[in-house]
This record gives sequence, C-alpha cells and structure tokens, in this order.
Amino acid sequence: EGSDKPPGNKWSFSGPFGTFDRGALQRGLKVYKEVCANCHGLSFVAFRNLAEAGGPGYSVAQAAAFASEYKIKDGPNDAGDMFERPGRPADYFPSPFPNEQAARVANGGAAPPDLSLITKARSYERGFPWFIFDFFTQYQEQGPDYVAAVLQGFEEKVPEGVTIPEGSYYNKYFPGHAIKMPKPLSDGQVTYDDGSPTTVAQYAKDVTTFLMWTAEPHMEARKRLGLQVFVFLVLFAGLMYFTKKKVWADSH
Ligand code: HEM
Repeated sequence: EGSDKPPGNKWSFSGPFGTFDRGALQRGLKVYKEVCANCHGLSFVAFRNLAEAGGPGYSVAQAAAFASEYKIKDGPNDAGDMFERPGRPADYFPSPFPNEQAARVANGGAAPPDLSLITKARSYERGFPWFIFDFFTQYQEQGPDYVAAVLQGFEEKVPEGVTIPEGSYYNKYFPGHAIKMPKPLSDGQVTYDDGSPTTVAQYAKDVTTFLMWTAEPHMEARKRLGLQVFVFLVLFAGLMYFTKKKVWADSH
C-alpha cells in the first residue's frame, strides 16, 4: 500500500474562523458538472441546496435555472410510463449510472464513489481515537488535501519497480498507486468567466472546495455557533468565579 503523502493546502475553510470561498464554490460546481458528473454521483445534494446560506451563494431563481438544465427521470405517470422532465430545485443531482453494477462495468471493475461525502471519508479513515483529535487539528484538511492531491497525482511515467495493471493508471497519491479513474483534468478543459487560471491545479482546488461544501453544507453556521458558545462559556466562567468568591467570602 504505497502512496505519497498529499501536500498541504491553504484552504479558506480551515480553522475556527474559516469560511468557503464563494468563487471557488461556483467554479468547483462547474468542474463537477462538466467533468466529474460523467462518472460520479452527488446524490445527497439537491439543487435547492445551491441557494442556501453558507453555500455557493446562488439565488433561488439561479438554482432553479441550473436545475432545469438537467433531465430527471420520473414516473410512472397515469399511463404507467416512466418519463423525463426538466429538473426542479427539489430534485437531487442525478447519478450517471443506474446502479453500482452498471458503474462497475463502465469503469473497468471499480465503481466511481459518490462524491457527496468524499472529503470526509478520508478523515475518518484514521480510526479511533485519532479522528477525535482531528477535530482540533487536521480534521478538515486531511480529506480535502487527499482529494486535491489525487486529482493532480497522475503521471505518465511510472516509476521503476511499480507495475500498473491493464485498465489502471499510475497515481502518486492513490494507495497502491494503481487507480481505475483515468486522469480527469487537463489544462484549459473547463472555461472560467472570472479570470481564474484554467489549470489542473486550480480546477483541483476549486472542485475540492466545492466537495468540502457538499460534505459540510452547514460548516459556516456550525463554526459561528461554536465561537458564540465559546465566548459565552468564557464570560460565564468569569461570572461564576466572582460569584463563588462573594458567596464564600466569610468562610475561613
Ligand atoms: C475514484 C474524484 C472524475 C472515475 C475517485 C475518487 C475521488 C474521485 C476522490 C476516490 C479515490 C479513492 O478511493 O481514494 C473525482 C473528481 C473528478 C473525477 C473530483 C472530477 C474532477 C472522474 C471521471 C471518471 C472517474 C471523469 C470516469 C471517466 C473514477 C473511478 C474511481 C474514481 C472509476 C474508482 C477508482 C478505483 O477505485 O480504482 N474519483 N473523479 N472519475 N473515479 Fe473519479
């Protein structure tokens, strides 16, 4: 199980004050839609989520317009037929394959995992009790750093001594180095309209930021509440201290 350690990144969302970079979320959504969605699902995310506070910052109308670009399978109707209709805000992102078997067959035996929670999956892999400490330290970085690394870890030249089976690709950061995902990103592949660089490194960071949001859509509210609770507890502890001094003033 050899693999290189993913390099660390400066994420806007790390630390107790971290928030999502709206531009990165919007660009990442575009990368997901145009590239990743050909193979990966995002089945826990609904189009309406795109208009929720703490997310990519779209209006309800924009989220509805985005949804309507998708064809959603629905039915049966009164005649008993299945049919397709334009997406609505309440719909979830449709998956590219009807089921896991079909996904496997199309991808050389490995089903592309659903990406909704992928940035969290790796954090918890460290197992008990380490994931508890991750909350205070690296918890948010481990998953995203790994995902961003895998997207940038494809190399044409396979190092000496490593054999990659037919249908697999060499990736520096994938455990075991042989991944069944073909190199998904290349420079210039997705157009950006905000002037951000259209490079693999930028795509990888943007789509990873987007996938951090899909995994933690309420992160900003959670951190805000956490800080408020923290401030309250510090003030309350001070109050209690002086109360205690007063109550016990004559008891020696
Ligand atoms: C696996 C992300 C595009 C096919 C994965 C994994 C991630 C990922 C994080 C899991 C790696 C692991 O298990 O540790 C992405 C992102 C994409 C993208 C963010 C868009 C930028 C694609 C495309 C395809 C694809 C376009 C199909 C042509 C697969 C397959 C696996 C996989 C088959 C399973 C690999 C294995 O277990 O060997 N992807 N992917 N992915 N992806 Fe992608």
